[in-house]
Amino acid sequence: MQLSHVQCEQYRRDGYLIFPELFSRAELAMLRDELARVAEINSEAVIRERTGAVLSVFRVHDMASATASAPYTTLQGMPCFLEPARQVLGDRDLYIHHTKCNMKDAIEGAVWQWHQDYGSWRLDGIERPEMATFLVMLDDASEIGGCLYFLPGSHKQGRVEPVLDDKTTSYKLWCVPKQRLLEVMSELPEPVPVTGRAGTAVLFDCNLMHASGHNLSRHPRWHVYYVYNRCGNRPQDVPKPRPAWARGQDWQPIHPAFAG
Ligand code: SIN
Ligand code: MN
Repeated sequence: MQLSHVQCEQYRRDGYLIFPELFSRAELAMLRDELARVAEINSEAVIRERTGAVLSVFRVHDMASATASAPYTTLQGMPCFLEPARQVLGDRDLYIHHTKCNMKDAIEGAVWQWHQDYGSWRLDGIERPEMATFLVMLDDASEIGGCLYFLPGSHKQGRVEPVLDDKTTSYKLWCVPKQRLLEVMSELPEPVPVTGRAGTAVLFDCNLMHASGHNLSRHPRWHVYYVYNRCGNRPQDVPKPRPAWARGQDWQPIHPAFAG
């Protein structure tokens, strides 16, 4: 799948693109079953909320991980993901920095405060913000269900020095400092809710400011994230590197799935 000129322009302007319902009901059911299975595994790649519910499962794409799952490994090289990622990053040789499945539970799934993903990935030793993420909605994403919100155009601010938030978000998250966020928000259009039917995918820039609210609905909100980086932008050494489930160490280029 190749992006059109208009889509590339839109990505550069807004920092994201939405692809409605890329996956069938049967594919989604299989991905959900697989995620439910790996979420039960006892591994440091499975992170829990304060309540004990599973918050995130990392490294589902990597066959070297206890949380590996074959369908999720295949997904990283699917042309509908890999080709647009190659286009927006201007490089054919990409690897996965990490995969993360966020399983926001009905009623319990909590807030992710405003942040830029590259706020933390720079701390992993990645020198340039030449990264993009594909999100797949495994469930319908609604506002009451704690969908993401994007601040369109905020990626053009570049990386804003983040602050560590270990109060609002269950997971320790490097967030945009409040004053700076308010300034940026006052200059840009209103944040947009990233809603969609299950199977919808979203490609977004690593400096795009985003957040999500509590899941107040009776439905779970499961989202899966594939983070693509250029092989030439692999992390440099840092004093205390995060484990391989957060800071991928397989820097070989991904091969397209089903290549002819
Ligand atoms: C994230 O931004 O890293 C996760 C937010 C979410 O899944 O709601
Ligand atoms: Mn994020």
